[in-house]
Amino acid sequence: MPGALVPKPVVLHTADRAREFVRDRRASRQGIALVPTMGNLHEGHLSLARLARAEADVVVATIFVNPTQFGAGEDYESYPRTLDEDLSLLYAAGTVDAVFVPDEGEIYPFGADEAVRVSMPALSRELCGASRPGHFDGVASVVCRLLNIVTPDVMVLGLKDYQQLIVIKRMVADLGIGVRVVSGRTMRDTDGLAISSRNRYLTDEERVRAPLLYAALEKVAGAIRNGDGNYGALQQSAADELRASGFVPDYVEVRRAADLARPNGRQPPDELIVLAAARLGKARLIDNLDLRERELATSDVSAST
Ligand code: PAF
Repeated sequence: MPGALVPKPVVLHTADRAREFVRDRRASRQGIALVPTMGNLHEGHLSLARLARAEADVVVATIFVNPTQFGAGEDYESYPRTLDEDLSLLYAAGTVDAVFVPDEGEIYPFGADEAVRVSMPALSRELCGASRPGHFDGVASVVCRLLNIVTPDVMVLGLKDYQQLIVIKRMVADLGIGVRVVSGRTMRDTDGLAISSRNRYLTDEERVRAPLLYAALEKVAGAIRNGDGNYGALQQSAADELRASGFVPDYVEVRRAADLARPNGRQPPDELIVLAAARLGKARLIDNLDLRERELATSDVSAST
């Protein structure tokens, strides 16, 4: 029954076991939701699991740090792997029925370097894709494999990784994959910083400055709502202000929310989204503000700091 709490989740290590688990649930006509993650779980992931719970009878979370979405010199080796803590969190939350924790060979049986890849169109090379070549092909490739193994009815992804969400929706539509993609709102600390596994790379001093990224988005969004249509100048001054506060911005951009195309100047503000990515010390932070959102709803704010 969607919404019901469950006891301890089953931990599945192989694709065969995951398929068997799903086959058994399907035999009793249960709907399946997938929540793909790379682990190091936090309140943002738990909120996605709760959403999945409301959408389907059975929730399968996956924990897999996917090598094909990391570029050379990125944090694949150092990405936090915290399986025991992750499982404890999931046990306590009671929202997940199974956790699929494959090793690399289960996902890439011919090896990650020899893997068949999904090649995504141009959008995957813009915004975050411009500074992370191949990243979205890697994300699409692993999500495609997870969908093939778990065959969910619904997949839940976070709005924080907005470009990822749009890219995956495009893959699902283009390849005719029979899954409904549902998005969960960004969870924020009380000062506005979007909760992310990579926030742990921030020093205490950087953590104090980190909310300036979301503040920059709010400033751009506010100006657009007040009728300023000079997106180029707004983007530039937001990036300059971030730079002055010690960030190294990759981009601040105003795009169409529906498909992340560049706006043509005729869109009403509530069809737009402002997105940014910037480095602060060792952390690369991303965030976005959809102009349909009027204000930060209190239900999206986590009390954790
Ligand atoms: O958003 C993430 O954590 C990852 O990109 C995903 C979707 C689990 C694919 O590895």
